[in-house]
Amino acid sequence: MTDKRPEAIETEIEQLVRKLNEHGHRYHVLDAPIISDAEYDRLYRRLLHLETAHGIILPDSPTQRIGAVPLERFDKVRHAEPMLSLENAFSRNEIIDFDKRLKRLLRTDGEIEYTVEPKYDGLAIELSYRKGVLWLASTRGDGYEGEDVTGNIRTIRTVPLKLEHPENIPEEIDIRGEVFMDIAEFEELNKERRQAGEQPFANPRNAAAGSVRQLDSAVTARRKLHLACYGIGACRGALFANQNAFIQWLKAARFPVPAVMHTVTGIDAALAVMADIEAHRSTFSFETDGAVIKVNDFSIQKTLGTKTREPRWAIAYKFAAQRGTTRINAITARVGRTGVITPVAELEPVQIGGVIVSNSSLHNWDEISRKDIRIGDTVIVERAGDVIPHVIAVLKESRTGDEKPFPVPQTCPACGGFVVREEGEVAVRCVALDCPAQMREKIIHFASRGGMDIEGLGEKNVELLHEHALIRHFADIYALSKDDIMRLPRFGEKSARNLVDAIHASMNTTLSRFLYALGIPQVGEYAAKLVARNFENLQSLYRVTPARLLAIHQIGGKTAGALAGFFQDEGNLRVLDRMLKLGLRLSNPDFAASRHAVRPLDGLTFVVTGTLPKPRQEVEEVIAQNGGHVSSTVSKSTSYVLAGENPGSKLHKARTLGIPVIGYPDLLRILKPKPAQQKLFS
Ligand code: IVH
Repeated sequence: MTDKRPEAIETEIEQLVRKLNEHGHRYHVLDAPIISDAEYDRLYRRLLHLETAHGIILPDSPTQRIGAVPLERFDKVRHAEPMLSLENAFSRNEIIDFDKRLKRLLRTDGEIEYTVEPKYDGLAIELSYRKGVLWLASTRGDGYEGEDVTGNIRTIRTVPLKLEHPENIPEEIDIRGEVFMDIAEFEELNKERRQAGEQPFANPRNAAAGSVRQLDSAVTARRKLHLACYGIGACRGALFANQNAFIQWLKAARFPVPAVMHTVTGIDAALAVMADIEAHRSTFSFETDGAVIKVNDFSIQKTLGTKTREPRWAIAYKFAAQRGTTRINAITARVGRTGVITPVAELEPVQIGGVIVSNSSLHNWDEISRKDIRIGDTVIVERAGDVIPHVIAVLKESRTGDEKPFPVPQTCPACGGFVVREEGEVAVRCVALDCPAQMREKIIHFASRGGMDIEGLGEKNVELLHEHALIRHFADIYALSKDDIMRLPRFGEKSARNLVDAIHASMNTTLSRFLYALGIPQVGEYAAKLVARNFENLQSLYRVTPARLLAIHQIGGKTAGALAGFFQDEGNLRVLDRMLKLGLRLSNPDFAASRHAVRPLDGLTFVVTGTLPKPRQEVEEVIAQNGGHVSSTVSKSTSYVLAGENPGSKLHKARTLGIPVIGYPDLLRILKPKPAQQKLFS
């Protein structure tokens, strides 16, 4: 099948890309697939095979959604037209005043046509298309200047990489929308984070924003993000009469649009739609904290114009926060992986906005004393945009005198060990090295998906093994036998064997994953990768000094201190040695990639455009492995534009800015390939 003529292969690639994008849109946006997952996978694999075999990768290929290399920082980009904010209204009267004001400005008595949509609580972004191809995605930033997050936004499957509108594709168009996370997905993510000992996100908005602002697009790709497009920025080559027509165009061009949008005449009708959205807000899969009312007609919008930061033609009606009154039955203290002790209020279950709330984090003891929260108090609990409920106030008038304060613990509730409260910190922390609660949380993190990824060793089983004193430390996991496990309740021969097999399978992993799994405070996935790039193996980290770690670009004082503290502890080193003896095998591809102290492309920023003789991903990887940085937009700070065949508008931009344009052979020449590097290209 590979002896086809080149044109035939190109045609097949084009057809596969078109087909896969259409089925992707049916699956992710319309929720109405017409082929099976297996069939989709088959087409996808065929495309991947052709791309790798022939080095032809189309810009909108579904294989190109995940970027190759983590960025070191985001480039700043200016919006062609500022991304404005919205005026807020908190009552129906303020909305009625808004309508009166517009009628006065327009000198009309006639009813104005409005659109009403839910207000999404996420992160505003702008998608910029040129000749129908997505070339830039940026965050709102301060409204004038945002960050280039193209690589991350491309991983969101509902974002069209290429416009497929049947008749009307503008020359250039900037589309605005909100990236958000569904409530169910947010809760699932937080559950995983808690199990991994990571700080959960406070609300879906923070989760969405945190996922978009990730230097490693592979992390963004793992988060289930959605998009709702609702606005237009700069546009050349198309005219839309009104918001409604624009939304219809977005739909036809395969963009996801707000779940509800009504076009109505007069403010009373708009208020009715708003009330309906508010009444149904708990049935939406996403968090909404209001409704947005916009003047439908674009020419009237233009007449009304904008104030400094907000348009005159739109207003956001903020729904009342969802609150409930209930009683605190008890306050418990939970010990986390890093020893931080968090007070949690156990509430008399109460319905708030369609959800039953039975506990609420009280954050820390400063918060408890500031609000004077006591056991037995009647409190107001709020879910304001946030899914995690907060105690916002105590109803002191309901006190009977039997309420009991919850003092700062003097010892750890789990192990009875010392607790400390560091200068300037609100957190109370158990510092006992052998605190079983901390160890249990650490082991849960160690075995979790992002860590050593031991299938079958989730929270419940770790607790069980820990309770039966079978694992007290990471190393004990590797010493577990099938017979040990079979003795536990809930386990049979087969499930015990599966667990032992999964443990063994997990013992071959990378240094960076292992470093992350150890759960050293301050050492997340990215820091672990940076360290692995600079240390050949685990033993080379033994007794490392903070100064040596600080020399690594992007490793700060806290991380260096925590890592050095860990690797200077002889007890820890003994545990690591035991793990190696039990069969832990760590490869380190990150180090191999950065062996040269000074790399040929250090400090250079590249923008790649057009079709190159090698797959785009491979070329970007080579640039990164040689110290270069790959960016998606041409700016003054670009060192070279690497152009292949059929380069896009980036070439034009490079010429206008006077950035040198090089070809693939020039790149090879800059790299002056040594044998080790040549291998990377073969
Ligand atoms: S229209 C100039 N429509 O709310 C008009 N914004 O508080 C600007 N937002 O920055 C945006 N849902 O991030 C519009 N249906 C919607 C929206 C929406 C959420 C966000 C947007 C904006 C913020 C202003």
